[in-house]
Amino acid sequence: MKNHPPRTFRDDRDDEKFMKIALKLSQRGSGFTEPNPMVGAVVVKNGKILSCGYHQAFGLKHAETMALENLTVPGTTLYLTLEPCSHFGKTPPCTDLIIAKKVRRVVVAMVDPNPRVNGSGIRKLRAHGIRTRCGPGGDWAAYVNRHYLKFIKTATPYVTLHAGISLDGKLTDDAGHSRWITSEQGRRYSHSLRGEFSAILAGHGTILADNPRLNLREPGWEGKTLYRVVLDSANTLPLSLNIFQEQERFPLVIFSSNAAANRKKKVPLHFFVRHDANGLVLAEVLEQLSKLGIASLLVEGGGRVLDSFIRERLFDEAAFFISDKIVGGRNSVQIFASGVTRLEDALELVDCRWSEYAGGTMMRGFRKCSPV
Ligand SMILES: NC(=O)c1ccc[n+]([C@@H]2O[C@H](COP(=O)([O-])OP(=O)(O)OC[C@H]3O[C@@H](n4cnc5c(N)ncnc54)[C@H](OP(=O)(O)O)[C@@H]3O)[C@@H](O)[C@H]2O)c1
Repeated sequence: MKNHPPRTFRDDRDDEKFMKIALKLSQRGSGFTEPNPMVGAVVVKNGKILSCGYHQAFGLKHAETMALENLTVPGTTLYLTLEPCSHFGKTPPCTDLIIAKKVRRVVVAMVDPNPRVNGSGIRKLRAHGIRTRCGPGGDWAAYVNRHYLKFIKTATPYVTLHAGISLDGKLTDDAGHSRWITSEQGRRYSHSLRGEFSAILAGHGTILADNPRLNLREPGWEGKTLYRVVLDSANTLPLSLNIFQEQERFPLVIFSSNAAANRKKKVPLHFFVRHDANGLVLAEVLEQLSKLGIASLLVEGGGRVLDSFIRERLFDEAAFFISDKIVGGRNSVQIFASGVTRLEDALELVDCRWSEYAGGTMMRGFRKCSPV
């Protein structure tokens, strides 16, 4: 192995700067790369960016290939938001390309915990005399790829709860109507949020009450596939509902109870799982979704479904649009009807971020003990 000059303060400062650029770039793949991670790559020589790339969509070129394939200059530094792969997958190992292009130094934000990589990419580069550094931008990289990290570590989709709620925590008015608790801006945010996920889930009650399409209509998500998941224990949803339309681009996945397995499947992706006192067993639903390669799930409600996910602590993040309306009422649907009997047991969200919109506030926070 070669003897390398020691790393300098200047190197460290540049590493942070160029990694930030690579991370921003990686986020352009948001919503399109799953179950793969989002990855950004920046190639630098003498403080100047020579080329860059990012993983645009599942099955397309890796970020490293985009950044390096047309480059002829040796002795560069490559900034990568995730460790490069060293195995044959849908594409050849990225480490081979890095070695072939005579890159001098590789800086990665974090190790890829995928068991097929997990440090082997870095080891291979080092074995070929390429200096490597791991760590700059690591926290941001883990945040950007939180769906991927949960999925790869636990084989369960990353679950985000989403709802538009009144200031007093209601999903509907006293007569059961939810149109419109949120403002026009809040609704547009909610629609766009769907694009960040592989799948979206709603309960039988919402499908019947609102007859939603649960599709992607906001600009920026053209061409994206989004799975729509519906919980329908008794398999009784009428085929005339909007949810049965547009299945080519928005495949419909239905879950019913084992007891209803004798009824005809309504869609090719119709699964039968166990049913207990609270409804379909959600752990089985999530397991089946992970088998379909669904790395992230947005749970849009309604009340009973959100209640189940909260009660069973089966979520990682919450994204609630809290409107400036007070609704009240004894029959209005609540976000967490089961509740807790002692304040000490209340669910705490951490790292909450609040953004102001016309007519309300968007809150995104994380479950305290989420595995990510
Ligand atoms: N403000 C908002 O953001 C928002 C969003 C969505 C919906 N909503 C509103 O919420 C209302 C519907 O809420 P909802 O509580 O009546 O119905 P829901 O939560 O949409 O659906 C509940 C139904 O899902 C089925 N289910 C199967 N397994 C389940 C499980 N493990 N946990 C919970 N449910 C399970 C059950 O029906 P089966 O036994 O028949 O399977 C259950 O009755 C509508 O008025 C809608 O407009 C508001």
